[in-house]
Order: sequence, then C-alpha cells, then structure tokens
Amino acid sequence: MRVLGINAIFHDPAAALVVDGRVVAAAEEERFSRRKHGKRPLPFSAWELPEQSARWCLASGGLHASELDAVAYSFDPALCRPPDDLGLSDPWDWLRQEYAVRAPYFLADVLNGLDPDKVVFVPHHVAHAASAALAAPTSYGQGDCAVLVLDGRGERASHLAGRYRDGLLEPLATQDLPHSLGLLYEDLTVHLGFLRSSDEYKVMALASYGTPKHLDLLRELVSVTPTGGFHVGPVDFAALAPPRGEHDEMTEAHANLASSVQTRLEEVILDLAGWLYDAAGGPSALAMAGGVALNCVANARLSAQGPYRRLWVQPAAGDAGTALGAALHVARAGGDAVTPMPGADLGRGYTDAELEAELNRARLSYTRPASIAEYAADVLARDGIVAWFQGRAEYGPRALGHRSLLAHPGNEANTERLNDVKGREQFRPVAPMVLESRAAEVFEGELPSPYMLFVHRVREDWRKRIPAVVHVDGTARVQTVDPAVDPLTAAMLSAFDRRTGLPVVVNTSLNTAGRPMVDTPREAMELFGSAPVDLLALGPFAVTRSGAFDGLG
Ligand SMILES: [Fe+2]
Repeated sequence: MRVLGINAIFHDPAAALVVDGRVVAAAEEERFSRRKHGKRPLPFSAWELPEQSARWCLASGGLHASELDAVAYSFDPALCRPPDDLGLSDPWDWLRQEYAVRAPYFLADVLNGLDPDKVVFVPHHVAHAASAALAAPTSYGQGDCAVLVLDGRGERASHLAGRYRDGLLEPLATQDLPHSLGLLYEDLTVHLGFLRSSDEYKVMALASYGTPKHLDLLRELVSVTPTGGFHVGPVDFAALAPPRGEHDEMTEAHANLASSVQTRLEEVILDLAGWLYDAAGGPSALAMAGGVALNCVANARLSAQGPYRRLWVQPAAGDAGTALGAALHVARAGGDAVTPMPGADLGRGYTDAELEAELNRARLSYTRPASIAEYAADVLARDGIVAWFQGRAEYGPRALGHRSLLAHPGNEANTERLNDVKGREQFRPVAPMVLESRAAEVFEGELPSPYMLFVHRVREDWRKRIPAVVHVDGTARVQTVDPAVDPLTAAMLSAFDRRTGLPVVVNTSLNTAGRPMVDTPREAMELFGSAPVDLLALGPFAVTRSGAFDGLG
C-alpha cells in the first residue's frame, strides 16, 4: 500500500510516506515553512495542513497524489465530544472537529489529484501508539510489545496503554480528559513564563536546579487509579510560585515548583508503566510516544526503575510523529508487513553536486578536503565551532548529527558560547554525542541511546574531562553514534578521539533561537553567515570563517 500520513490538528504539522510497509520519508512542516512548530496550537489553526512537507514526501517517493491508496489523518472527528463534556475551558474546541471533518476536501485541494474518499481518520492516540510500537527496532519488540502513549490530549483522552501483538493494537486503558499529564506540564510551562506546546523541555531543565518541596501536595493532587489511569486535580501553581513573565527573573521558587511537578510526573509514569506491565502479561519491551515521552529525565528513571527489559521511545514522540504512526497503522491494518524505521534521518537530503551548486551560487570560497570528518575534527580539536550539515534532515525535535552544531566538550565555556551563538537562555544544557562503543566508559544508564531521549549520569572520572556537556546535576542527554548506521559522524568522532582522547563531542541543533532547525543548504549558509561559527561542513565541502569572506571588496 502507498500511504501518506498527515498530522495537522493540534500542532507540529507533519507528513510521512509509507510504501509497502517501509518508511520512505517523513518531515515536519516547520522545516519548510520556517515557522517554529508549524503553527500556534489553537482551534483556529486546525485546518492548516502540512502542504509543503506532504508534497515533498510524495515527490521523494516518486508518487502522484492520485496513486495513493490512503491518506492517514491522525485525528478522528467521530470520537470528539463537546468541550463541556471534556471539562476543557476552550469554547472554540468544536472547530477542531469541524475542520477535521472537512480535512479530506482541504487535502484534495492542496494535493492535486487526490480522491478525498481515500482519507482515513486514525484516532490520535492510536497514531501515537503505532509511531512507537510499529517503528521500533525488532530488538525492541517491534509489533509485539507494550505501548504507552502519554500526551496532552487527543480527541477525548490524554493517554493510552495497550499491547501490540503481530502489529495489531489491543487497548488496555485510556484516561479521559480533562485529566492530562501533558496539559498539566503545559500549564506549568506557561506559568513559568515559557511557550505552551513548545518550551516544556526548558521546564525539565529548570527542574534540576530545584528541590521537590511540594511533592506531598502534588501526590495528593495527581494520583493514579486502579484501572491504569490517573486523576489530575486542579493545581494552584500561583500558590506555590508567582506567575513569571517572559523576561522576569527566574527564582528558586520557580525551580522548586518545576522540580516538584517533574518528580511527581516521574512517579506517576512509573506507576502507569507498572500497571501496564501486569495487565499486558509481562512483555519484555515497552514502546512510548506522545509529547510527555520526550521527557528524557522521566524516561531515564523508567528505564532504571521500571519492570521492562527494553524501552524504546519514538524520536518524534510529539504530534509530528503521528503522521508516521497513522500511516504505519493504516498500512498494517491493510495487511502490509511494516518494517522498523531505519533512523530519524527521514527528511530532505542533497547530492554532493546539489550542495556544490548552492555554494557556487552563493559565491562562497570552499574546499573539498580528503576527509570532511578529519577536517571537522581538526577544527573541533582547536576549539572551533562546526556547523555539521550531512545527509537527510532529522524527523523530530532533536539534531542527531545531520543538522548539528558541534564543539569541544573539554572547554567548559563552550556551553555559554553555543548558547550565545544560538541566542538562548544560559541555563539550557548542551548535549554530548559519543561513539556507541565507548559510551559505557563515560556514561551510565540506558545504552545505546541513538535519539537523545534519556538522560545519563556522567561517570565521576569523566566530569572534569567533558565539562561542557555535564548538566548542573551531573547528567547529560546522550546521543550514541553507531558507525554502521552513521559512518560519517562516527568517523568524525573517532578522528576527534584520536586528537584529544575524548570520544565525545558537544552536539546541539543547527538553528538560532526561536527558529526551526536548518533544513536546506541555503539555510545552513545563512546561519553560517550570521553566527560566529568557524567551519561549515556542508556534505564533503568545507567553508571556513575567514574563507567565507574571501573575494569581498
Ligand atoms: Fe498528541
């Protein structure tokens, strides 16, 4: 089957193409529209579709919209309920249902030749579940595992716990709205002066600066039920820390509140996962998705203390991933055997000739060193900052060595330096990438960790050697690099290791604050031109800072 997956309803619009059960392409609309998260998460924007990413997915698969067997849309309007029944305060929520009902016609309008009758509605959390359980590697129980979706909201629920057998889902528990761990965390995000459905990871980073002073109260307000769900009572954040404006000072009270909610979230996730383990008959593997599954501190705790032997989290765990999940679900339900996703690099990529043409068009001086991996390692070893643009762009919120900004981990000042390059808050940690074969020497916890979805304790004897990537609480959000999967980035790490004795490089996303990650060569050159980056490694080509301005004047 040829199935195009579409996520549009809440935020992070995205598209994915699955052909005969194989993931061909997946991309988020923000990388095309250059608008972070694609749109604001309001009912009024629910009609907006991932037009450009959907067209690109089709083109990359060599398909015309008329050749699709199905379009899988990750929201089912038939499951909607009036806002009053949901206990939500948004009187405009019904617009989502209205727009979803009309989505087949909107889609036919933007995808020439599409038959609107080919559009299939997939329940939002079934799409999340499939994005985890059907995309996971076989060694993590692909198609045969427990699945836990922890979300802000779907049509009427915020959570789904289930069991996959032979690629088919048996739901075991759902939690209806208004009770929602994701919405609780989003409300806290707003209270702390950050952006809803966008900055939740900043709250998680902030939590490590505080102590969970209000944990007893939160244990009363947020409780698990005996049927695998949970209740979230109204939490009066203002009674615990004053509401913070975007530019207000961040105080200890704010950090303590963040820490309290974070800690309670971790406890509840452990309980939910434990209930599911028993209800599902003790499967060895758990797959997770939903926005809350991007909480890598909670994931690490579940990995360490939960009952499962293996834990896999969909790298695009937020709503963007439902485009892929919806497509995989429809393919499997239609009888296709689905294969695990090959990696997160499912977006746009360019040939060497295309990259060189872009450099020439920009009239930039560049070289083609014998090995861009060795060249970049040289610059990094001399404490330069490298923009690393290689292969296909990542699907999901993390840069994983395809659109990355790299630096030396031994220079503590590089955290600040990278935050300055990107123009973002100084309490934000930057993360390490490490050769998979060396990871256990340096880090404790869930390994391998190819998608930066877990935090790891940095081993005591390594903390002083790689201070730039060690967070205030002694942890790091690690990406392990396997040479069999990503030979070029692994070669760069090996070359850096030979020069410095460190198999670790600082890795942060290739973007500046508030902007989506760089996707195209032109955007990479724009970033290079405007930020103090020493080397742009664009495929096999090298553009250096001084060289970038040769030929001027
Ligand atoms: Fe979702």
